[in-house]
Amino acid sequence: MIKASNISHFYGKEQVLFDLDINIKKGEFVFLSGESGSGKSTLLSILSTLLKPSNGDLRINGKNIKELKSLDSFRQDNIGFVFQFHYLINYLNVYENIELAAKKDKKKNIQALLKELRIEDLSSRYPNEISGGQRQRVALARALINEPSIIFADEPTGSLDSVNTKLVYEILAQSVKKGCTLIIASHDMQVQNYATQTLQMLDGKLQ
Ligand SMILES: Nc1ncnc2c1ncn2[C@@H]1O[C@H](COP(=O)(O)OP(=O)(O)OP(=O)(O)O)[C@@H](O)[C@H]1O
Ligand SMILES: [Mg+2]
Repeated sequence: MIKASNISHFYGKEQVLFDLDINIKKGEFVFLSGESGSGKSTLLSILSTLLKPSNGDLRINGKNIKELKSLDSFRQDNIGFVFQFHYLINYLNVYENIELAAKKDKKKNIQALLKELRIEDLSSRYPNEISGGQRQRVALARALINEPSIIFADEPTGSLDSVNTKLVYEILAQSVKKGCTLIIASHDMQVQNYATQTLQMLDGKLQ
């Protein structure tokens, strides 16, 4: 499903990822662990096709990323993201933020998804009118709306209380049960309770 070979990355002259080989099968709940600065977000950006690695090859669902004609449509069809810093659009309300990402036939599911995430009453509010934890759940809804085959989540529970943290893990685990593959970077060791595979990073290398 995801096969990365010899991935290295430099920011300028600084090398932050060193020759990584990664193999992730369909339906895995992958916990990407490691201390701050070890390269988790960089690796997630590369695996999710947002960042081009300095070296190495990436295949997703059997396709070599370098050979794709349109990365945009590949992402829309295959990938959902939840970022460490959620990028909601401030001049769109909650509903519209999700609607913008949703494929035509998925728009009808928005309200039900908001309900699942317990933010159904916030549809017409703007991102600056809701809490950080609520914003994070809107970002999660946006990642899930197209039922992607792969979800990348970077610290998705960073600003959530324990009840909502658990809710997010359970919703992600439910997506995995339905056949989705999840890669989640986090400092929260609770993720281990849900994970089927753990990748431990240290200074840009996998342990
Ligand atoms: N855009 C950038 N330009 C230059 N250096 C960067 C950039 N982004 C990250 N880095 C550096 O790359 C290294 C890995 O950063 P990365 O964000 O991948 O770590 P991380 O494991 O996600 O950390 P955290 O747990 O704090 O989110 C760090 O040394 C960081 O300072
Ligand atoms: Mg990070």
